[in-house]
Amino acid sequence: MNDFRIAFIGAGVMAETMIAGMRADGIGAERILASHRREHRALELKERYGIRVVLDNAEAAAWADLVVLATKPQSLPHVLPALRGRLREDAVLLSIVAGARTSVLRDALDHPRVVRSMPNLPCRIRRGMTVWYAAPTLGQTDLDRVRAVLQVMGEEARVEDEAHVDRATAVSGTGPAVVAHFVKAYLEAAAYIGEPRGLARASVLATLEGTVAMLRQSEDHVAELIDEVTSPGGTTSRALQVLKNGRFSAVLTEAIEAAYARSTELGEQIARGCREPNP
Ligand SMILES: NC(=O)c1ccc[n+]([C@@H]2O[C@H](COP(=O)([O-])OP(=O)(O)OC[C@H]3O[C@@H](n4cnc5c(N)ncnc54)[C@H](OP(=O)(O)O)[C@@H]3O)[C@@H](O)[C@H]2O)c1
Repeated sequence: MNDFRIAFIGAGVMAETMIAGMRADGIGAERILASHRREHRALELKERYGIRVVLDNAEAAAWADLVVLATKPQSLPHVLPALRGRLREDAVLLSIVAGARTSVLRDALDHPRVVRSMPNLPCRIRRGMTVWYAAPTLGQTDLDRVRAVLQVMGEEARVEDEAHVDRATAVSGTGPAVVAHFVKAYLEAAAYIGEPRGLARASVLATLEGTVAMLRQSEDHVAELIDEVTSPGGTTSRALQVLKNGRFSAVLTEAIEAAYARSTELGEQIARGCREPNP
């Protein structure tokens, strides 16, 4: 479990997050390799983390037990053909590329041992959420390795149905922007009734964190916490009534549904792009 070799194809922000997390967790630099097309960036990573670096994606892929695909989706039509036939037969490809389905990766690489994952923005500070799906050809050791690598970015959850990764793209992937939007609106509301900015920021963030911590501790349904703080005719009751009249829940559902629809559309686009790569 502790001696597998990990290579990164594409070494941008997310790959660096994972590399930094692994190094901080004591994973030996000799077990990590990153491939980057720009030498300057490759050398930067070598200097920062002591890892091995190469300029050739195929060389990186052939070296590793676990190959992490971390380029942007639009690079796949160029990157995947060059990796075809280059992964070792027993290697696992772990993709963090949003929208790239396992069928697309498997067919482009002619390699059935693939995992599709969807991390989110807080992964960058190791407080993220990654939902992942593994092709049925993977064994327990493969799954344990993938889990260990994803855990350096925070929480993870494996799903048995790949469609849940598209849903996760809408829920946890879009989530940080949705939550930040909510926080922004909350801060504006606090300013509107005259709360000083500094106090509003401190109290909105502490309220979010405290509420989340309480929800995590409790087995109760979320509605029970709402019930607990809502006395008849009180302030919370007034606020909730306004949210209801403003279709707060319905608008949120429409937003997440729109993100889900877009995520499946992007999946289609990537599949088309990889089937018909530009010459
Ligand atoms: N950032 C997030 O919070 C987040 C969250 C969830 C999922 N993701 C997924 O993670 C993936 C990486 O995102 P990121 O934010 O890390 O993007 P990024 O910083 O742009 O990293 C992508 C890296 O791939 C490199 N690259 C492009 N073409 C290449 C090629 N042919 N060979 C080798 N390397 C190549 C890029 O090099 P250049 O610098 O030379 O262009 C860049 O360093 C994306 O697919 C995204 O969907 C990201």
